[in-house]
Amino acid sequence: MRIEIQELHPGFAAEAGSIDLSRPQPAEAIGAIRAVLDNYPVLVFREQCLSDERLRDFAARFGPLEIGRAAARPGRRRLAIPQIGDISNLDEDGGVRGLNDRRRLDSLGNRLWHTDASYMPVPVVLGLLHAVALPPPSPWGNGETEFADMRSAYDSLSAETRQAIDGLTAVHDVFWSRAQIGFSEFPADERERYPASRQRLVRRQAGSERRSLYLSAHASHIDGWPVADGRLLLFDLNAHATQVGFVYRHSWRVGDLVIWDNRWTMHRGRPHQEDQPRDLRRATTLDTGSSFEEAA
Ligand code: OGA
Ligand code: MN
Repeated sequence: MRIEIQELHPGFAAEAGSIDLSRPQPAEAIGAIRAVLDNYPVLVFREQCLSDERLRDFAARFGPLEIGRAAARPGRRRLAIPQIGDISNLDEDGGVRGLNDRRRLDSLGNRLWHTDASYMPVPVVLGLLHAVALPPPSPWGNGETEFADMRSAYDSLSAETRQAIDGLTAVHDVFWSRAQIGFSEFPADERERYPASRQRLVRRQAGSERRSLYLSAHASHIDGWPVADGRLLLFDLNAHATQVGFVYRHSWRVGDLVIWDNRWTMHRGRPHQEDQPRDLRRATTLDTGSSFEEAA
C-alpha cells in the first residue's frame, strides 16, 4: 500500500492524501505511513475527526505511548486518557487559563525550539498532534507550529564541525528549558522525578547513513565541558539549525493531525491571542532505548 503525498517542504514535510484515520487501519497502512515518515519526518493529515480514544488507539499502532509530565501529576485533569497530552490553554473545567496560571506558564516552554521529552533517559519518537479548537488570527499570530529539519541542519555544517561534534554528549534538563523563560514554580517532588538525562548530540538514522542534530531547549550543556562552553556551542548550533530554510511552518486547521519524528526534528509553538481557546491533543510514542543504544 502507498500513501499519496504532496511535498510541503523539500525532503522534510509532506501532506498525505485523503485517508480516514478514524477508521481502523490495516497493518499495511501503518507500514506505509512509517515509510513516508522515514523520508518526510513531518507528515500532515487534513480533515480528520478523532476522538481521544481513537487518537490513542491509532498512535499505539506505532509504539508504546508516553504518559507526559503533566498527565503524570496527581489531581484532576481535563482529559480522561493519560496517554493523551493536553496541548491546550484550558483548565480542568475547559475555561481559558489566566495569564499567571502555573500550568500555562510551564507549557509556554513549548514556544522554545525543542524536541519532546529529551530530558527522559529513554526519549520519545513520534508526536501525533490533533487540532480540536483554534484561536482566531491575531497580531501575535494564531498559534502555528514550526518544525525544523535537523538532518539538513547537520548536513550543512562544515566537515570540521561535524567531526568535532559527532562524539559529544549533551545534558538535557526540563528545568533548564523552563529556566530560560523564567519559570521555576514546579510542583513539589517534580525535580526529583525528572533528573537530567544524557543524550548523543548527533544521532544516526538506522537503515540510512543520515545523521541528525539532536538539539532541544532542554539541552543545557555538554557532558565533560564547562557549562558555559557547552551552552555557547548549543546556542550556536540552535541558531544554525533553525534558520528559515530548514523550517516548515504549519498553519493549523481544525481536524489536522500532524505526525513528526522527534529524532530528526525540532519544533516550537508560536504565539496567539491568549484569551482565546486553543485545544490540541497529542499522543506520543516512546523509543525503545536511549540515544546511546543506537549506532554512532
Ligand atoms: C507539542 C508542542 C507546540 C504547539 O505538542 O509537543 O510542542 O504549537 N506543541 O502547541
Ligand atoms: Mn513539543
